[in-house]
Amino acid sequence: MSKIFVDACLGKETPYTPVWMMRQAGRYLPEYMRVREEAGSFLELCHDPKKAAEVTLQPVDIIGVDAAILFSDILVVPDEMGMDLSFVKGEGPKFSDPIRTQEDLDRLVKGKEVADRLTYVYDTIKIVREELRDDIALIGFCGAPWTLATYMIEGQGTKTYNICKKMMYSNPELLHNILHEVTQVVKYYMEQQIVSGVDVVQIFDSWAAAIEPSKYDEFSWRYMVEIADYLKSKYPDTPIIMFPKGISAFVERGWVYGNFDVFGVDWGTPMALAKEKLGDRYVLQGNMEPCRLYSKEATTECVESLAETMRDGRHIFNLGHGILPDVPVENAIHFVNECKRASKRS
Ligand code: CP3
Repeated sequence: MSKIFVDACLGKETPYTPVWMMRQAGRYLPEYMRVREEAGSFLELCHDPKKAAEVTLQPVDIIGVDAAILFSDILVVPDEMGMDLSFVKGEGPKFSDPIRTQEDLDRLVKGKEVADRLTYVYDTIKIVREELRDDIALIGFCGAPWTLATYMIEGQGTKTYNICKKMMYSNPELLHNILHEVTQVVKYYMEQQIVSGVDVVQIFDSWAAAIEPSKYDEFSWRYMVEIADYLKSKYPDTPIIMFPKGISAFVERGWVYGNFDVFGVDWGTPMALAKEKLGDRYVLQGNMEPCRLYSKEATTECVESLAETMRDGRHIFNLGHGILPDVPVENAIHFVNECKRASKRS
C-alpha cells in the first residue's frame, strides 16, 4: 500500500498535505508518561524495544499523524561510542567524560562497530513496522555530526558553545577529526535503520545556528551531505529530510546544496522565502512556531496561511521545532485536523 507521507517526500501529488510533529512522542502525552514511569528512566525506555515501540505508535492513534517517528534519542550514538551518557532531571543530557583532546577521541569506539551495538534501536523499528498501519510511514533519525559533537565536546547542552568554538578556531583539525568519526558511525547507523524498516530518515541539525554563516558549510553541512550521498547511493528510494535549525541567512542566499529530498524549514524562516529560494529543488517541511499550539486560533491562522503559501503542493506540514511538554493534547489533535482540512485537494 502506498504511503502518502513517502509520496509527498518524493514530490508526488497526494490527496492532502501529510502532517507529523517533531517530538510528537513525548511528555505532553499522559500515555507516554505512564510508559516512561514503568520503564524507570528515559534511557531505559530507549533501551527497551517493546516499550519504545509502544510510545512510537501512541501519536499515530492519539493525534492522527501520517508518520510515526522512531522513539529514541540522537545521543545514543555517542553513548555507544563509549561515552557515559546520563539524563539529569531538570538539567537535560550529560556526558561525564567530554572529548577535548585527540587522546580522548582515540579511546572511543568507531565506525561500523558502533552501529552494530545499537541493536535495541533496530529491534524497536522491527516491532513498530509489524504493528504500524501499512499506510503510515515510519521515520528514522539521527543527529547531525555537528549537533552530536556539541554534546560530546561540551559534555552537556550549552547556550554559548564556547568549548566547541574555541576548538573550531584554535584547533580546527581536532574538531574535523571528531566530526569525521561521528559521520562514519552515523552513515552505518542510518543504513541499518533503513534495512530494519524505516521508510524515511531525518537528520536533525538542531544547533546549526550556533555556527557563523561563513563556517557552517565547513563544520556542519558538508558532513550531513556526506551522510546523504552515502545513503542515496545505496537506497535511492528512501527519502531524506534535512533539518538545519536556524539558517535563514543561507536560505535567503538560495545557497543550500545536497542530495536529499526534503528541506525542514525552521519556524524563524518565512515559508514564502523558503519556497522562492528552495521550493523548486526540495519538498519543504514545516514550519509552524511550536508555541502557537497553546492557542487553537493561533494554530488555525498559521495552518491556513501555510496551506495558502504551499497550495501547489511539494509540502509536508510540521512544526518549526519540537512540541513542548505542556501543550494540551486536544490542541495537537486540532493542529493535525486543521492541516488535513486546509490542504484537502478535491
Ligand atoms: O517524537 C520524537 O520526536 C522522537 C523522539 C526524539 C527524542 N529526542 C525523545 C526525547 C527525538 C527525535 C529526539 C532528538 C533529539 N534529542 C534532538 C534533536 C531534535 C530537537 O528537538 O532539536 C536533540 C537536540 C536531543 C538531545 C536531547 N534529548 C535533549 C536536549 C533532551 C532534554 C530535553 C528536555 O527538555 O529535557 C533530550 C531528552 C528527550 N529526548 C526527551 C524526549 C521525549 C525528554 C525526556 C523525558 O522523557 O524526560
